[in-house]
Amino acid sequence: MSKRPGWLDNAVFYEIYPQSFKDTDGDGIGNISGITEKLSYIKELGCTALWLNPCFESPFGDAGYDVSDYCRVAQRYGTNDDLVRLFDEAHKLGMHVLLDLVPGHTSWEHPWFKESMKAERNEFTDRYIWTDSIWEEPAGYGSLRGISDRDGSCLVNFFTHQPALNYGFYKPQRPWQQPMDSPGALATREAMKDVMRFWLSRGCDGFRVDMAGSLVKNDEDCKGTIALWQDVRAFLDEEYPGAAMVSEWGEPSQSLAGGFHMDFLLHFGPSHYNDLFRSEHPFFMGEGDASAFVSKYMDSYERSGRRGLICIPSGNHDMDRLARHIKGERRRLAFAFLLSMPGAPYIYYGDEIGMNYVEGLTSKEGGYGRTGSRSPMQWDGSANAGFSDAPADKLYIPLDPSPGRPTAEAQLQDEASLYSEVKRLIAVRQAHRALQSLGEIVFVSDGAPGKPLAYIRSLGGERIFIAVNPTDKPCALTVDGELGEIIYSLGNGAEADGRQCVIAGCSAAFINLK
Ligand code: NOJ
Repeated sequence: MSKRPGWLDNAVFYEIYPQSFKDTDGDGIGNISGITEKLSYIKELGCTALWLNPCFESPFGDAGYDVSDYCRVAQRYGTNDDLVRLFDEAHKLGMHVLLDLVPGHTSWEHPWFKESMKAERNEFTDRYIWTDSIWEEPAGYGSLRGISDRDGSCLVNFFTHQPALNYGFYKPQRPWQQPMDSPGALATREAMKDVMRFWLSRGCDGFRVDMAGSLVKNDEDCKGTIALWQDVRAFLDEEYPGAAMVSEWGEPSQSLAGGFHMDFLLHFGPSHYNDLFRSEHPFFMGEGDASAFVSKYMDSYERSGRRGLICIPSGNHDMDRLARHIKGERRRLAFAFLLSMPGAPYIYYGDEIGMNYVEGLTSKEGGYGRTGSRSPMQWDGSANAGFSDAPADKLYIPLDPSPGRPTAEAQLQDEASLYSEVKRLIAVRQAHRALQSLGEIVFVSDGAPGKPLAYIRSLGGERIFIAVNPTDKPCALTVDGELGEIIYSLGNGAEADGRQCVIAGCSAAFINLK
């Protein structure tokens, strides 16, 4: 296991969808300079690191997750120099920046793919996964067919315009399925290392890796994919040992074995994340059930060596805004939970002010239902909420039209705002190592119907008891230890006496434990 960059231990991330954050050149779409301009806002909130969604050249059929040049910032966002300046300015503020690496597929407009489509063999013939006859479709995968002189069908990874890069098959079963150590598969891997070198050498601090767990095909237990990432980590340890790697994988026992420092809790698959925030009866609205989430979380936690390296996001560019499902004061409870759990928390831009999901939008760049979570950041009360000087009808995605839409400016000035609460919660986390990435967790109450979520975080000699109760009713809990000072409280907080604690309805409390 490589050494984890120390800054991850107390990192609080802010995810930026570059299109929608801040436009400084009046074309209606956000850009890199806009992010640099707003670094002080992110720092002031207390976040220590950024994750930028892909900002590279692309035909934008999937908002940039369809890369056509990994080593060039898309013109609409600025230049490579602008991105390097962002790294430098972030570093001056003691912050770090993760780029989004999309190793599983490219756009079908990538020059590699154009070469790969040719009938004559060339350097890129095996860069993607092709069957050896147009009449054979790859079982279990979507494919591109009849688009070129090459006689074959090409596997796709996500949308049809995203052909899958070839990292080989763990267990090849057909003649066209190349093993992981075939020259073509190894060449793809080396090409991706070059991409990483390119950005790391320019000051990027690491990567959030898209669909990291699915590179090698026919790889049921991910053994091949784990081995591939171990090799990538060995290269990083040699050349860029400080590079941080966070995976979109959803199985920390696998991704950490692959050398990733942290893994995301996903909003799909078996995580039960949505039970908390986005189901029909989300736990944080007070009527749901968090127990399946806790059980799966603890299972992952145990299987990955009781290390707190599962990152829980407030939201992201792929799911509904938190505010669509969690209303009013209960949003604060959701943040009290997010900011007191192990692993690095990720705040999706605008969630800190309670930005809404914008209903009824036409899909933009492959967003479909995700488009409503990608609307422009609401900075202030000026035209276009301070996002852009462009005419309103030229904005990349329309703004939330609601008259009372929240703005950063108003919330910054209001001690009682959600922004101020999130800022205070981050400050409490940063003041207590037990609350940060590596503090251990033991659940006291698993959020079964009518029950709060309650847990003890500990590190070194410090132990902190946390209770978050979104239900309407108070709840009594018995804790293993002597309850002391209440270091944070929300709503009506808690009453603590010895080992007993009563947490009020719709309230949260962080209490020192002796
Ligand atoms: C996951 C990304 O978060 C999502 O936005 C994208 O569409 C797919 N991967 C495909 O790259």
